Amino acid sequence: MTNGEPVTAADLVVVANRLPVDYERRPDGSTGWKRSPGGLVTALEPTLRAREGAWVGWPGVPDVDVEPLVEDGLSLYPVRLSAQEVEDYYEGFSNGTLWPLYHDVVAQPQFHRHWWRAYTAVNQRFAEEVARVAAHGATVWVQDYQLQLVPGRLRELRPDLRIGFFLHIPFPPVELFRQLPWRTRIMEGLLGADLVGFHTDGGVRNFHWLAQELTGATPDRDPEVVRYGGRQVRLGAFPISIDSKQIDELSRSEPVLKRAAQIREELGNPARIVLGVDRLDYTKGIDVRLRAFHELLEENRVTGGDTSRSGAESAIDTVMIQLATPSRERVEHYQQMRDEIELSVGRINGEFARVGHPPVHYLHRSLPREELVAFFLTADVMLVTPLRDGMNLVAKEYVAARHDDGGVLVLSEFAGAAIELTSALLVNPHDTDGVKEALFAALTMNVDEGRKRMRTLRRQVLDHDVDRWARSFLEALGVKVSQ
Ligand code: ADP
Ligand code: G6P
Repeated sequence: MTNGEPVTAADLVVVANRLPVDYERRPDGSTGWKRSPGGLVTALEPTLRAREGAWVGWPGVPDVDVEPLVEDGLSLYPVRLSAQEVEDYYEGFSNGTLWPLYHDVVAQPQFHRHWWRAYTAVNQRFAEEVARVAAHGATVWVQDYQLQLVPGRLRELRPDLRIGFFLHIPFPPVELFRQLPWRTRIMEGLLGADLVGFHTDGGVRNFHWLAQELTGATPDRDPEVVRYGGRQVRLGAFPISIDSKQIDELSRSEPVLKRAAQIREELGNPARIVLGVDRLDYTKGIDVRLRAFHELLEENRVTGGDTSRSGAESAIDTVMIQLATPSRERVEHYQQMRDEIELSVGRINGEFARVGHPPVHYLHRSLPREELVAFFLTADVMLVTPLRDGMNLVAKEYVAARHDDGGVLVLSEFAGAAIELTSALLVNPHDTDGVKEALFAALTMNVDEGRKRMRTLRRQVLDHDVDRWARSFLEALGVKVSQ
C-alpha cells in the first residue's frame, strides 16, 4: 500500500544498504514492492514503524530511479546504485570481502582495490542522502557492514547530528580484522559515530582494542568509551531480537494452527519433523545438518518415510524440511554452496526415499510469515547450525512461535543467540558427531524436559523483544524514548 507524503526533515533516520522492501518488476510489466530478505529488516521494520522515522536505502535492483515514497506508513528514501556499483560495492566489497572476513573467514575473503573504491563512493552517496533528509539535530541510526564509512562522512557533512551505528554481523577477532588492507579507514569511519553497537561483549572488546591500535584512539575511565578526535565514542553490546509478541499471536491464530496440522498431514504424518530455515548462505551450516541427518539415516537410527526399510524397524520415522531463501545469487561462493546443498539433498533422497515420501523436503524460496510460523509450529526439532552468525533471529522466531511449549531447539554455539538461549541443545557445528548426537537427543527427548527447556527459552525471548533492543540502543545514544 502506498499512501501519503514522505516525512521531510525527519528526526529519526535509519540508513541501511537495503530498504525494507525491494522494488519488483513483474513478468506482466507492472512494478511493485516486496519484503526484503534477512534479519536486519525483520528487526528494524517494527522499530521504525513505531517511531515514524525515515528509512534511506537501496531498492534492491540496479539502475532504477525511484522517488521518495510512503510504503505502508513508512517514509522511504531510495538510493540509486548502478549495475557496476552493485557488482563492486555490494556483491564485491560487502559480500566478497567483509562478509566472509567478519564471519571468521569460513570462506576466503577477496581483497580488490576497485571494490574498495566503489565502497567508499557508495558510502559517500548514502551519507549525502541522509544529510539531505535529516532535520537539524536529528538522530541517525546507521546499519551494518555495508555502511561502515557513513558515520565518519556524515559527521563531516552534518556535525549537528547524533549518530549511532549498529553492526548486525559479528565484529571479528583482531587478527582477522588486521588482514584488511583498509582497516584503519574502516575504524575511522565507525568512530565518526557517537555510539557503536554490537551483538556481544566480544565485539565490543575487539573494537576497543583495534581503535587504540589502529587509529590512536585513547581509552577512557569508562571501559565502554574511547576518546577519538576530541570526542567520546561509546561502545556497547545490544543483542538484537524480534517482535516476539507478534509471532506468538500469529502462532495462536486459527489459520496458522490449521496450516500447521495440514503440513504434517501432507508429509504423511511422520513421527518427527526436523526443520531448517535460512537465507541460503555458507555461514548457516546447512551442509552440517544435512550430513548429520544423512548419517542417522545410514545408521538406521531414523528412517525418512520408508518405514519398511530392512534394518530400520526400530528407527524413528523422521522427515527433514529445509526452507532456503535465495540470497546473493551472483556471488561465486553462494553459487558453489547452492550446488553442494542441492547435490546432498538429491543424494539423501536418492538413497532413502520411497515413492511419494522423500526424507528431505527442500524449498528454495521465501515464504509468507504465516506459512513460516506454521512450519515452526509443526516442527518437533529446529536445527540452527551456523558456523558463525551475529545473532540468528530464526532461533528466536521458533521459540516465539511455540506457545504450546513444544519443540526442541538445537543451536550452534557460534550464533550470537547462544549467549541468551542457553536452554537450547547447544552444539559445535564443526563437530559432525556432536551435531548428530544432539539431533538424536532432540528427537528422543523426554516431553517434560523438552517443555521445561522451551518455557525457559520463551521467557527470555518474550521479555527481550526488538522494542527493548531498540530502546536500549537509542537510550544509550542519548535519545529520549517515549513509553
Ligand atoms: P540473516 O539475517 O543472516 O538472514 P537471521 O536468522 O537473523 O539471518 O534472519 C533471517 C530472517 O529471514 C528471519 O526473519 C527469517 O524468518 C527470514 N527467513 C529466512 N528464511 C526464510 C524463508 N525461506 N522464507 C521467509 N522468511 C525467511
Ligand atoms: C543479513 C545482513 C543484512 C542483509 C541481510 C540480507 O541480515 O546483516 O545487512 O540485508 O543479511 O542480505 P542481502 O545481501 O540480501 O541484503
